[in-house]
Amino acid sequence: MTNLLHVDSIHTFIGQFHILEGITLTIPQGSITALLGRNGAGKTTTLKSIIGLTPPRTGRVLYDGADLRGRRAFDIAALGIGFVPEYRAIFRDLSVEENLKIAERKKGDLARRADLIFTLFPDLKRLIKLPGGQLSGGQQQMLAIARALVPDNRLLLIDEPSEGLAPVIIEHMMEAIRQLSTHITVLLVEQNFRVASQLAERYYLIDDGHNVQNGMMSDLVQDRATLLITDHSPLEWRFSNRIAVSLSRSRLSCYL
Ligand SMILES: Nc1ncnc2c1ncn2[C@@H]1O[C@H](COP(=O)(O)OP(=O)(O)O)[C@@H](O)[C@H]1O
Ligand SMILES: [Mg+2]
Repeated sequence: MTNLLHVDSIHTFIGQFHILEGITLTIPQGSITALLGRNGAGKTTTLKSIIGLTPPRTGRVLYDGADLRGRRAFDIAALGIGFVPEYRAIFRDLSVEENLKIAERKKGDLARRADLIFTLFPDLKRLIKLPGGQLSGGQQQMLAIARALVPDNRLLLIDEPSEGLAPVIIEHMMEAIRQLSTHITVLLVEQNFRVASQLAERYYLIDDGHNVQNGMMSDLVQDRATLLITDHSPLEWRFSNRIAVSLSRSRLSCYL
């Protein structure tokens, strides 16, 4: 198994705030890895540190063997890393087609990837001339993911794609992510534990800018299943005797 991305003990500051205090992740090629943690744990900052939007002050990010230190976000993206930000950030006044076109890294990217994109998201083909601002939340999320598929990316960083979406739309989006992951490695930040556990093969749990635990998602689900039976509170369980993780309204949070 080849590792596509290795994040090695990164420390990231925002202003004077020390946000990431030694985050380490290894992302194998050809699978989905979930990055889990409560609000404010440092998940988005981790993705932004990888892509160079908040470059780590110390530590290393290795992508396909290349050290990304000192490279600008634009140059990092050009190596084949797509970022789907938390709040979608599509252009509301541009049509679906223009939103996709603007994501081209090389001329002709959209034409080359159209089959893949419109197979995954047939709605976008139907809505191709509509301004982005007129799409529903779910359609905007599809467009945000589709945009990251326009260039020939090998790794996608997807930040909370299910946020604010109706269950039926979440199902559709999960199926699209499952299918695209057969071509592209995915690092998925997700607070909806059902989504994360059904999509990801591996997980990393972080809290307060630190690694807490990582492993196979099936083991985490198993832990939870066992503990749910024995725990008096059906929404709370413990593992490693050290970490309490609670699920409330299907959102995952953890505290030490
Ligand atoms: N621009 C910023 N200025 C100051 N603190 C920030 C900024 N962005 C994020 N933070 C802080 O960094 C921590 C991690 O944030 P973030 O990575 O967005 O967490 P998550 O995505 O896990 O919810 C939080 O405590 C948050 O308040
Ligand atoms: Mg976030």
